[in-house]
Amino acid sequence: MAKYKKERIAQLFDNLAAAGKDTKRKTLTSDHSIPQITSEKAFRRLELGSKDVLFDVGTGTGEKAIRAARICRQVIGIDISKKSLEIACKKAMREKLDNLVFTYSSFEEPCAELDLTQCGITKILAVYSLHHLSDQLKKESLGTLVQLLHRPGRMVIGDLMFFDEPNKYRHQFYEIGYDGGDTDFPSGVEHLTECLANLEARLTVEKIHPLVGVIVADWT
Ligand SMILES: C[S@@+](CC[C@H](N)C(=O)[O-])C[C@H]1O[C@@H](n2cnc3c(N)ncnc32)[C@H](O)[C@@H]1O
Repeated sequence: MAKYKKERIAQLFDNLAAAGKDTKRKTLTSDHSIPQITSEKAFRRLELGSKDVLFDVGTGTGEKAIRAARICRQVIGIDISKKSLEIACKKAMREKLDNLVFTYSSFEEPCAELDLTQCGITKILAVYSLHHLSDQLKKESLGTLVQLLHRPGRMVIGDLMFFDEPNKYRHQFYEIGYDGGDTDFPSGVEHLTECLANLEARLTVEKIHPLVGVIVADWT
């Protein structure tokens, strides 16, 4: 199995964005694909309102961030793919949205370019992005993100996460958007729930597929 390398993943998504693809696989963009169903469920579980400030981590070309900006007070989208961010910014400008910021930073260093501690973030979204990190980095990053979240606050993760032995579903890897360990490093669902429970979140977990789910974590 390959190792997590941020630069390699950034390059991959830069290339995809430059080629006009929003995501790694064509199936990810089809309305009835598992990734798309997951993404839609995750977005809905945010239960966004007009007072919310959303932080979209691994925003890609900003589809969800732009949609959220039509509802919320403020949206901040970050990513490590500069090309994806460039596309996201152009889309936001076309939509004339002035409550939306896209900036280069990462799960590991979310405040690299913007001091997010003063933004009043009430909701955090991570769709098909967290799984690129190793288990240890996921744990550390979740801890960092939670510190940026105001109370009451909610984090929604819609992503690859193993509820079962992954090799039983090899024939479905492509369909669910999993590359088998080249640049994707999903955790067992227990790892994610344990990290979040240790951060004192109240959790609900929805299994979409044996290797994909949505976690809603609330802090009151
Ligand atoms: C499959 S795309 C999903 C994009 C978007 N969330 C969506 O649902 O359309 C994964 C995104 O995560 C970003 N990403 C990967 N590792 C990251 C990291 N360490 N920090 C921030 N973003 C990261 C990639 O650059 C890519 O844009």
